[in-house]
Amino acid sequence: MDRIRIRGGRPLGGEIAIGGAKNAALPLMAAGLLTEQRLVLSNVPRLADIETMAWLLAGHGIAVERKGPEGRDLSLGGAITGTEAPYDIVRKMRASVLVLGPLLARVGEAQVSMPGGCAIGTRPVDLHLKGLEQMGAAIALEGGYIRARVAGRLRGATIVLPFASVGATENLLMAAALADGQTVIANAAREPEIACLAICLNAMGARITGVGSDRLTIEGVAALHGAEHRIIPDRIETGTYACAAAITGGEMRLLGARLADLGAVARTLGEAGVMIEDGPDGVLVRRDGTLRGADVMTEPYPGFPTDMQAQFMALMSVAEGAAMVTETIFENRFMHVPELNRMGARINVHGASAIVRGVGSLSGAPVMATDLRASVSLIVAGLAARGETVVNRVYHLDRGYEALEGKLAACGADIERIAG
Ligand code: EPZ
Repeated sequence: MDRIRIRGGRPLGGEIAIGGAKNAALPLMAAGLLTEQRLVLSNVPRLADIETMAWLLAGHGIAVERKGPEGRDLSLGGAITGTEAPYDIVRKMRASVLVLGPLLARVGEAQVSMPGGCAIGTRPVDLHLKGLEQMGAAIALEGGYIRARVAGRLRGATIVLPFASVGATENLLMAAALADGQTVIANAAREPEIACLAICLNAMGARITGVGSDRLTIEGVAALHGAEHRIIPDRIETGTYACAAAITGGEMRLLGARLADLGAVARTLGEAGVMIEDGPDGVLVRRDGTLRGADVMTEPYPGFPTDMQAQFMALMSVAEGAAMVTETIFENRFMHVPELNRMGARINVHGASAIVRGVGSLSGAPVMATDLRASVSLIVAGLAARGETVVNRVYHLDRGYEALEGKLAACGADIERIAG
């Protein structure tokens, strides 16, 4: 398994090109199941999860071809020839469950392996299933699989989500696009990736209103056609590199990033003493003076995103004063804490909250990656730590960060991948 070695203490300076959003690309690829015509996606990041989704779609008969000068365009097309999403793919990537709504809407049946839990939590999909049942699907759980079917078309329904689930909103939105009649999704998730998906679906002929709000209204249509759609920049990649610039006391320009998508992250970084502003070609980040402790509580968008919690905690570990970090979305998303503490951080976890008492500096150490965002928080910490940090199991990183060590090395970091 590859490892990444960092010798910390060097301020980052320069530019990083922000890629397309992983969490927009995955549902958009599933949307390729909704039409027999060609869907062309541009600005697609080159990530392991994208390859996994392409592998899954191929099993359904949808060919995914990489095109464009840097292979950042995906062309999806083909007739659906299979409706099973097998365990050995779904267990690698939970987002596989996003083929459920499209398959039901297109061909009236789907057999999707239950995603199972992951490192950060049990990750149930009950809200996806309840919504689809309201739309007329018959769903049984057998042998670890979701076995869903509907006679004829799904029918429109008014669905009130008890929690603004991103995945449930996406699955139900795609299913509703082809349902018979009107669907309303109330308390829908408002993450920018949802709007990106809705805009693409409308370009394919769907009739969705309320885009960007927590109430989506969809007038079902009989069929969708092909379209071309550009994926929004990755706001979590943007926030991650902003933390890297801040923790090293550097200054970076994040090309292609959209400050507006950062929501509470920009505000919280400002409270911590980090200057972050929109520029003509992206977002400029630099640290203004000392880092100050700032409290965060993760919430659905536009609140502080759970996917930025670990990275922000690494930043707070060397801030002046203390910070309270509260994780409200997932039940086990503090696995980066023991690893940060091995680097000299002073973090105490009490249930869903962690108290971070800033220390003068961190010291490099061998550390273990456990999930995507915990892994990158260790990279952020290693960039500022004295001495050498080696992050093990970096396959977690490769799921969500394209060419991370190359991007950071180009900004002055002493970082390298050790093949293993
Ligand atoms: C998406 O996961 C993202 N993944 C996650 O990013 C992100 O952390 C999460 O949204 C929250 O923003 C993708 O977009 C591929 P949820 P998802 O449904 O859809 C509970 C990353 O690092 N819940 O909003 O699974 C669930 O247990 C990944 O890029 C139910 O109880 O998130 C969790 O506590 C990690 N029942 C909470 O809601 C359901 O049916 C948030 O889940 C669905 C969810």
